[in-house]
Amino acid sequence: MDQNHFFLSGQTAVVTGGASGIGLATVQMLSSVGANVIIADVNKKKGSDISDQFKLQGKQVDYIYCDVSSENSILKFIEIINKNYSAIEILIHYAGIGLEKKFINTTLDDWNKIISVNLTGSFLMTKEISKIMISKKYGRIITVSSVAGLRGGTGRAAYGASKGGVIALTKVLAIELSPYNITVNTLCPGAIETELVKNMHDKETRRAFLEQIPQRRYGFPEEVASAALFFTLPGSSYINGTIFPIDGGFSSSGIIKNEFL
Ligand SMILES: NC(=O)c1ccc[n+]([C@@H]2O[C@H](COP(=O)([O-])OP(=O)(O)OC[C@H]3O[C@@H](n4cnc5c(N)ncnc54)[C@H](O)[C@@H]3O)[C@@H](O)[C@H]2O)c1
Repeated sequence: MDQNHFFLSGQTAVVTGGASGIGLATVQMLSSVGANVIIADVNKKKGSDISDQFKLQGKQVDYIYCDVSSENSILKFIEIINKNYSAIEILIHYAGIGLEKKFINTTLDDWNKIISVNLTGSFLMTKEISKIMISKKYGRIITVSSVAGLRGGTGRAAYGASKGGVIALTKVLAIELSPYNITVNTLCPGAIETELVKNMHDKETRRAFLEQIPQRRYGFPEEVASAALFFTLPGSSYINGTIFPIDGGFSSSGIIKNEFL
């Protein structure tokens, strides 16, 4: 395999949710290995400021508004992409929102909001970007689930269902897109220090999580970004349909006795 299999020079990546948290760390990482990046996010101010900062450093990072829960907004976004870019080689779909609420108190509005951004957004965005990739017979798609899509946990009826749905969607895409030289994999972050977690995890949630994480700490956005980067590489061509936890060992652990550590 030649060295180019491990760089992204000349490639264009769409990173949804790239204006914050894990998405932003991934934008930085992809850009550092030569990719041109397009941030697709609802946060206009953050998205434009980040793009400006990268451009000042001579990096090609653009921002285009997109609300992934709206088909109309995605179609407008795709129209801009088709006009201005010759190809999209990489899609990493981070755009998502969190909710921690007891099942019995979860309203239909809560449910619809979470599903429409986290699951319907994944469906709509992967579908439209796939069309571009199919025409070029190349692509790396990374969807974003969560450990909440793998394991049960209190307060995660809507959020967990949306992330479980992303896993099922990913497995189907991995099969149906394989004739076009497109791989599709999903990341399952555990507890990662971001804005989403600041709002979703109270003190008691943090305590409960830490008790079950063998590494006894929350992760950092860069630790998820490095996993995302791995799946985007041309050399990762035989990795398809995987469900990949980045969680300090949380999804593998059972009881943890302090005296054994
Ligand atoms: N942080 C964690 O512990 C954790 C754990 C598991 C999974 N995840 C998943 O990782 C992804 C990123 O999470 P994060 O922690 O970096 O969150 P974050 O809140 O820091 O960033 C999310 C970004 O998505 C954008 N966004 C929200 N709704 C959108 C929409 N409708 N259209 C376009 N953009 C939208 C926000 O503006 C923001 O920039 C999410 O899908 C989340 O569910 C996070």
